[in-house]
Amino acid sequence: MDPSPPPTLDAESPPDARALLLLNAIMERINLGNTPEEVLEVAFERLRALLPYNRIGIALVEADGQRVTLTACRCDGPIQLPTGYTGRLAGSSLEEVVRCGRPRILNDLEAYSAAKPDSDSTRLIVREGMRSSLTLPLLIQGRPIGIMFFSSRDPNVYTEAHGALLRQVAGHFAILIEKNRLGAERKRAREELRRANQELEARVEERTRQLQKLNDELEVRVRARTKELEARLYERTELLESLRRTQQELVNSARLAALGEMAASVAHEIKNPLAGISGAIQVMRDNLDTGHPYREVMGEVLAQVERLDHTVRDLLLFARPTRPRPVPLEISALIEKISPILAGDPAFARLSLRVEGLAGLPPVDADAHLVEDVLFNLLANASHAMPAGGVVEISGQDLGHAMAVRVRDHGPGLSPEAIEKLFRPFFTTKVRGTGLGLAICKKILESHGGDIRVENAEGGGVVVTLTFPKSRTRT
Ligand SMILES: Nc1ncnc2c1ncn2[C@@H]1O[C@H](COP(=O)(O)OP(=O)(O)OP(=O)(O)O)[C@@H](O)[C@H]1O
Ligand SMILES: [Mg+2]
Repeated sequence: MDPSPPPTLDAESPPDARALLLLNAIMERINLGNTPEEVLEVAFERLRALLPYNRIGIALVEADGQRVTLTACRCDGPIQLPTGYTGRLAGSSLEEVVRCGRPRILNDLEAYSAAKPDSDSTRLIVREGMRSSLTLPLLIQGRPIGIMFFSSRDPNVYTEAHGALLRQVAGHFAILIEKNRLGAERKRAREELRRANQELEARVEERTRQLQKLNDELEVRVRARTKELEARLYERTELLESLRRTQQELVNSARLAALGEMAASVAHEIKNPLAGISGAIQVMRDNLDTGHPYREVMGEVLAQVERLDHTVRDLLLFARPTRPRPVPLEISALIEKISPILAGDPAFARLSLRVEGLAGLPPVDADAHLVEDVLFNLLANASHAMPAGGVVEISGQDLGHAMAVRVRDHGPGLSPEAIEKLFRPFFTTKVRGTGLGLAICKKILESHGGDIRVENAEGGGVVVTLTFPKSRTRT
């Protein structure tokens, strides 16, 4: 409550110190307001001490500067000219107020409305019962931002002094409203910025997610492709390696074929003269007296000729194509048959054969002569490996689809070089060897559809495994 009722002003009484004080107090209160509505609310409550009114309105100039819109309005009666009402500024009577920046006083609105029938706004406030009006421009450094209207139901109430006093109030209003507009603008800009930021963040997040997904997909594809390429590379390497091997085999077999052909023709050329030499020496020896010193020499010559004959036979065996004539053959029976021959041959005299698990095994389809050749070759190797004599074990095993025959000696075993070159024709570590024994064995086994494996045996010596296809004919 104000301590004393504030003095009202009339044209004759300029604002005195009390009025200024009161104005100041009102301004302070008004300064607390923010929006035009709040400002207007305070003004409507407090300014009554300074001038009479029944209605106060605030209109703001639009951004285009062409129109004004009623932004806030208070009235002690029903309102005909409501908030939101818009009118053209250009060409209107208000333009003058805005342009000159001076208050306008209309103390007989009815007469004014009658003189200006086009002015809708005047007509409407007259209809509200207003008879006088004081209109003030809201200026910021001379720039009009709006208009403030004071209206009274009584005619002839406003004076120049009211106008002069209210110019200050209007200045404050203008600043407050502008401050509020700028604040709202800043707030809107901040809000927009925040929204844009949020949108940007969401888009960055979405894009990151998409990129991550793309990256993951790419990674999976790269991994799959790498695997595929690795597999292909492996295949190619394998293919290349197998090509290289085949090529090497081809070269070897071509070389061997040529060598074999040559060996066969040389062997053939040697065979007949050898037979001639052997026959002639035998005749000569038989004509010598027993006890003649040359008889022994001739015997030695015959032995060497026989060795040569063996070599020639081996060469022919190796060089000529092997055409086995397979019959159902029991390996145990074959061994029984060759045992007496072995016993009578000094080359095998120091060997003792131990045959195990062969009897009762199913027969194989094989050429008996060729299998004999294989066994003699293996036993010869065993005998060479055990010059002081030793045991050779021969055993058999039914593998289901095939038959295995194993020949094992107890000699020193295979050297690493021998393991690598075993089946190479003419590979030998012996002074008197030809190096054809195992090559012939391999050829014979392969011509039977079988296989030969030579390896160091567990516990020493060499074990040779011959595999024969089982006979389909049951004996
Ligand atoms: N039982 C074995 N123990 C140790 N080494 C062996 C045995 N069998 C073969 N070898 C090695 O393998 C080489 C090749 O054997 P292969 O039977 O083919 O020829 P060779 O016995 O040397 O001569 P050939 O058999 O033509 O008279 C032998 O020289 C020897 O070094
Ligand atoms: Mg041999």
